[in-house]
Amino acid sequence: MSVRPLVILPDTQLRLISKPVTGADKEIRTLIEDMFETMYDAPGIGLAAIQVGAPVRAVTVDVSKREDKQEPLALLNPEIVWRSEEMREMEEGCLSIPEYYEAVERPDRIRVKYRDLDFKEHEIEADGILATCLQHEVDHLNGVLFIDYLSKLKRDRVMKKFAKQAKLRSEEA
Ligand code: NI
Repeated sequence: MSVRPLVILPDTQLRLISKPVTGADKEIRTLIEDMFETMYDAPGIGLAAIQVGAPVRAVTVDVSKREDKQEPLALLNPEIVWRSEEMREMEEGCLSIPEYYEAVERPDRIRVKYRDLDFKEHEIEADGILATCLQHEVDHLNGVLFIDYLSKLKRDRVMKKFAKQAKLRSEEA
């Protein structure tokens, strides 16, 4: 297992549409192991494969926020099959947009169909922070970021800030 480098805004990989996983082979299992290690190391509560540069439909989440009682969940080809009409606003962040947080409104409850690491199909209902996290991660698989839900003014401001930071990083390197 290893911590992989995170893809950071404005890297255009974050805008790719990830490809479906066709089977739970060794490569995917290793990717998932590394994603958990990267996510816990950050630390974060969710990670999509594209955030470590792998454009495949794989997501890891753990909203427990507890080291003594981890609740790791790996989802291959997750698909939101139902969304509640009730909405909920929650503060979101993203490991690809470090140290930036804004409130986003999303459906309060969802049902998600996915395959596990044995490629067995499951369907779960999620609410609260898990529902927000899963919607955020499934968005990543479609090249969508949480800042896309903000006003143009806020989005432009954060894009500018991260473009500037990336420029500084490349000048230092
Ligand atoms: Ni994210």
